[in-house]
Amino acid sequence: MSKQTFKNSQGVHQGRSIKIAIAGAGNCSSSLIQGIYYYKDVAGNDELVPGLMHNVIGNYKISDIKPVCAFDVDKRKIGKDLSEAIFALPNCTKIFCKDIPKTGVKVKMGPVLDGVAPHMEEYPEDKRFVISKEKPVDVAEELKKSGAEILINYMPVGSQKATEYYAKAALEAGCAFINCMPVFIASEQQWQEKFEEKRLPCIGDDIKSQVGATIVHRILSHLFAERGVKIERSYQLNFGGNTDFMNMLSRARLKSKKISKTESVESQLARRLSYDNLHIGPSDYVPFLKDNKICFIRIEGRKFGNVPIELELRLSVEDSPNSAGCVIDLIRLLKLALDRKVSGALISSSAYFMKHPPQQFTDEKAREMVEEFIKGQRER
Ligand SMILES: NC(=O)c1ccc[n+]([C@@H]2O[C@H](COP(=O)([O-])OP(=O)(O)OC[C@H]3O[C@@H](n4cnc5c(N)ncnc54)[C@H](O)[C@@H]3O)[C@@H](O)[C@H]2O)c1
Repeated sequence: MSKQTFKNSQGVHQGRSIKIAIAGAGNCSSSLIQGIYYYKDVAGNDELVPGLMHNVIGNYKISDIKPVCAFDVDKRKIGKDLSEAIFALPNCTKIFCKDIPKTGVKVKMGPVLDGVAPHMEEYPEDKRFVISKEKPVDVAEELKKSGAEILINYMPVGSQKATEYYAKAALEAGCAFINCMPVFIASEQQWQEKFEEKRLPCIGDDIKSQVGATIVHRILSHLFAERGVKIERSYQLNFGGNTDFMNMLSRARLKSKKISKTESVESQLARRLSYDNLHIGPSDYVPFLKDNKICFIRIEGRKFGNVPIELELRLSVEDSPNSAGCVIDLIRLLKLALDRKVSGALISSSAYFMKHPPQQFTDEKAREMVEEFIKGQRER
């Protein structure tokens, strides 16, 4: 795909930089970093730019986002410049911007904790994580040294300890926090209070992708409910060939992912469905699909006259750019919160961009709330 160029528009403030740190230089990080360079010339909100929800947020352009620090545990990534690490195996997402200049950020060894699932050992090295023998750094110290303002958590599903470690390091280093995965931080009162005490904002939990399985399932469920159709049964089956799907083959790691995905859809139904009648989750790992995720949604209901209605849908998406399309906005929304000295969980951004926010709203309402937040009409 050819690189697009975008007109500079008049009157846009040259925003200061937003220094970000990344925990987990996997596929989602790869898409995010590629996106920062792919969209580096975007300025001004007067042009419709394919792939973006907001060209500029507040005064912040995409080119204001600067990676300053990164952590991983994989031997093929540790010690490499972030611009190379994001293309190292087992990352397998689509490369849409290959010429990334050196960032000067060397990926540092984080503590492994529960970040790497034991069952991954059964798979070939080029498909799974391979733990480096490097000694882990003190993440909080490294964050402080780098001057990072925001830490983005991209730990694999099921990494409860690792996510808590990175959240604590963010608190200690004075960094705001974006939690892209389903360990509950921004949606948990005790963590919200910790961020409030440190006067830091956070957003979470578990990214609701740009146009992914969750938002499509939510909007269709909401449509059925609004139009008076009683939903009786529904499923959402997902599979893909990246390390995220390989990791999720371990059912023991899936508890919070199931909660996050199921509650996200359930919150849009007129009435809750029993366990037997709603099935949502990652379903299998198909290596050749790489970062392409396939999702099947089925909704069964009863409309006027108790007459049945069925909907079947197949969605095929490259998984990681789908999350990066949201994180590119979240970074700038969180920076606005930092500028405005707002602390604790950001309700509007979490509701619009996360599957398991502190408070659920319809996507239409949450979007409205985000726009109000950007204009300064809403505190959080
Ligand atoms: N792709 C999406 O649209 C999407 C949507 C919602 C949530 N998520 C979640 O975001 C997270 C990241 O997804 P991804 O596709 O980038 O995963 P990935 O498997 O590609 O990347 C995870 C990275 O974390 C590293 N890692 C493991 N343990 C670590 C530790 N202790 N410290 C530092 N690094 C460690 C791995 O080496 C790997 O590089 C996953 O939990 C995923 O479920 C993704």
